[in-house]
Amino acid sequence: MRYQYDTTGERFAETKSTAAFSAADTHTLLGALDELGGVRGLDTLDLACGYGDNTRLLARGGARRTVGVDSSEELIRLAREHGTGGPGRPDIEYLVADAAGLPDLGPFDLATAVYLFNQAPDRSSLHAMFRSVRANLRAGGKLLAIVPNASAFPHVDWSPYGVRILDRLPEGDAPLLKAHFVTEPPVPFEYREWAHADLAEAAVEAGFATVGWQPTRTPPADPVRDEAYWTAYRAWPVSSLMTCTA
Ligand SMILES: C[S@@+](CC[C@H](N)C(=O)[O-])C[C@H]1O[C@@H](n2cnc3c(N)ncnc32)[C@H](O)[C@@H]1O
Repeated sequence: MRYQYDTTGERFAETKSTAAFSAADTHTLLGALDELGGVRGLDTLDLACGYGDNTRLLARGGARRTVGVDSSEELIRLAREHGTGGPGRPDIEYLVADAAGLPDLGPFDLATAVYLFNQAPDRSSLHAMFRSVRANLRAGGKLLAIVPNASAFPHVDWSPYGVRILDRLPEGDAPLLKAHFVTEPPVPFEYREWAHADLAEAAVEAGFATVGWQPTRTPPADPVRDEAYWTAYRAWPVSSLMTCTA
């Protein structure tokens, strides 16, 4: 099966390295990992790993085992091409699989999921994803997920931060958002606007013991993205951090 990201792999990689929302997400994830005491010695799983940007962060942080999973064969091919977590680090294991039906890959101490849950097309897939993650975590293990905030389309414009919402269609279990990454040329994509309450409900139903939320954090200002730019971003950021404990 081919997914929307199969055809946009290299362009998506470009967005990841240049877009402001993505810089904020990485900063947020790294801050959260620091607060957990880092990943050294942990068994880690990166879901919807794409071309492996966050997967390599886990491996380079000293994880004992790092597994990256994505449903796109093309992105897993790109991830493998990018290589491992660096000299002296164990190889990253990459796998093409649907996060809504993961095999037993663990157990893991930590799972990350950056923009996975908004890919769930309906409520039963969303719940299946949380159950799959929970089943692969040890008791007490953590799930760190970057999830989109409500877009407030058409009133909030995220295009200065790298993503533009083009339409919001109320249908099915959650509104379908049509968007593009602000690249040249723009790269179209679609996702579901799950309410945070829907995600929390799916996590609890899957057996997670705690669910918490944190606002996104922004990187230090620099001459290109100054304090005013990040202050405006924090007023209505693209994403939030969801933290669940198994
Ligand atoms: C916006 S990309 C995020 C990629 C990566 N987490 C990052 O931040 O660089 C969303 C990813 O989810 C993957 N994906 C979509 N549905 C999936 C599913 N059911 N199971 C696993 N991966 C999925 C896509 O192939 C794509 O790589």
